[in-house]
Amino acid sequence: MMMMTTTTKFLICFLFSFTFTTFVYGWNNGLSRRPPMGWLSWMRFACEIDCKHYPNDCIDEKLYKDMIDRIAEDGYLQAGYQYVNIDDCWNAHYRDPKTLRLIANQTRFPSGIKTLAKYAHSKKVLLGIYEDVGTLTCGGYPGTYYNNIDHTYIDAETFSEWSIDSLKLDGCYADTNKFNLTYPEYTLALTNVQHPIIYSCSWPAYLKNISDETYSEIRDNCNLWRNYNDIVDSYQSVFQIIKYYGQNNKQFIRYHGPGGWFDPDMLIIGNNGLSYEQSKTQMAFWCMWSVPLLMSNDLRSIRPEMKEILLNKELIAIDQDPLGIMASLVIQKSNWQTQVWTKKLSPMNNNELNPWAILYFNGHQLGPDSYMSYKLSSLIPELNQTISYDVHDLFNSNDSYLGKLKPNQQLELLVPTAGSVRLVKLIPKI
Ligand SMILES: *[C@@H]1O[C@H](CO)[C@@H](O)[C@H](O)[C@H]1NC(C)=O
Ligand SMILES: *[C@@H]1O[C@H](CO)[C@@H](O)[C@H](O)[C@H]1NC(C)=O
Ligand SMILES: *[C@@H]1O[C@H](CO)[C@@H](O)[C@H](O)[C@H]1NC(C)=O
Ligand SMILES: *[C@@H]1O[C@H](CO)[C@@H](O)[C@H](O)[C@H]1NC(C)=O
Ligand SMILES: *[C@@H]1O[C@H](CO)[C@@H](O)[C@H](O)[C@H]1NC(C)=O
Repeated sequence: MMMMTTTTKFLICFLFSFTFTTFVYGWNNGLSRRPPMGWLSWMRFACEIDCKHYPNDCIDEKLYKDMIDRIAEDGYLQAGYQYVNIDDCWNAHYRDPKTLRLIANQTRFPSGIKTLAKYAHSKKVLLGIYEDVGTLTCGGYPGTYYNNIDHTYIDAETFSEWSIDSLKLDGCYADTNKFNLTYPEYTLALTNVQHPIIYSCSWPAYLKNISDETYSEIRDNCNLWRNYNDIVDSYQSVFQIIKYYGQNNKQFIRYHGPGGWFDPDMLIIGNNGLSYEQSKTQMAFWCMWSVPLLMSNDLRSIRPEMKEILLNKELIAIDQDPLGIMASLVIQKSNWQTQVWTKKLSPMNNNELNPWAILYFNGHQLGPDSYMSYKLSSLIPELNQTISYDVHDLFNSNDSYLGKLKPNQQLELLVPTAGSVRLVKLIPKI
């Protein structure tokens, strides 16, 4: 009986999404018109459940309440960081035997998730949660297909009833060949519940050699989608992601934009793995790509200079630009150690012309800071040749003006070594 129901639902889901995508590009649930911003526990706190030894660092309601407080009170919410997202290991080792619903671990979440969501909402913070499209979550907790029974509709209903605002649906213990069935079924379930929930897929994260057809299906079903490796606390990890996004830039650009975003994983700024310059580098790339800005760090003890990077208004504006264009890789040399990326921004008030952002990256780990210099029109052929552009350094908000350039002139910037960037904005001057 259960299997019959499931099959029927699959069929309905297919018919539905087919008709739907004939008319609109992307899953038009009206959510995440800008890349979501917030905080997510995974990279920093992973699956630490020993609250005796780690009373401040274990996955429990205190951790999330602390982060909700920091987001609300320390300027993050004002800057745009809105979500606090629970990751793996929040639930009990079984489902409710009667209702089959997911339940939170009662020792670590004594008040329950619904109460936690109320707490978040009382501070104007949104609460996200984690599940998995397989039989178990990556950490071994009950998944959507726990005991090989499909709980998609029960879980979507439960999350809505708890007033959850965002769902990350991971892909462990699942048949990757069925992602094109299981993820879209969840899309349909979320479409039908009352509370609006943004949907983060881990499709295609577990797939290799991803076709245009697959990306287009993902775009039709998810608000954001994790791809590539999970980030860890190191420069190497950030660099590999930058390279992967560079290698696939031309393909990714086509599926990225308002309502549907590639997700290169969390911002690790404020932890132990990145130097000051490398922290600016992660922020700069993520903002140039217009991807989700989900910090995974300890906001209770973050160093002020790292907080300043995360709250940089100019960079956040680049990330949240209404056009939502992923930057283009225009120069790649020396095995990815020299890179230049450009991004078109939306026009400012009384002016039809587009501002642009340009990023210079220097990965070399030997020698002094070095000058990178390129003719503007060679980087951005679209620039209006008859006017000049004011150049502003986006990491120096107090004294940002660098000068005025015509498209046929060189943009020369001194770039520090070892994975550093310079990021400027060109503002058309009429
Ligand atoms: C809740 O988590 C604790 C570890 O913090 C674990 O010992 C306990 O078995 C879990 N309870 C359930 C019901 O899963
Ligand atoms: C789903 O993906 C599998 C594996 O790639 C493929 O064989 C199948 O045809 C796909 N189904 C649909 C309906 O696209
Ligand atoms: C990736 O897929 C394409 C088209 O489906 C195929 O032509 C190509 O050989 C595949 N590449 C690898 C490395 O599997
Ligand atoms: C370039 O800018 C000038 C001055 O604003 C404007 O008259 C002209 O139409 C622009 N050209 C293009 C191709 O946008
Ligand atoms: C800008 O000036 C303020 C106040 O003097 C200072 O706290 C801040 O660190 C400066 N920021 C930069 C990027 O230099």
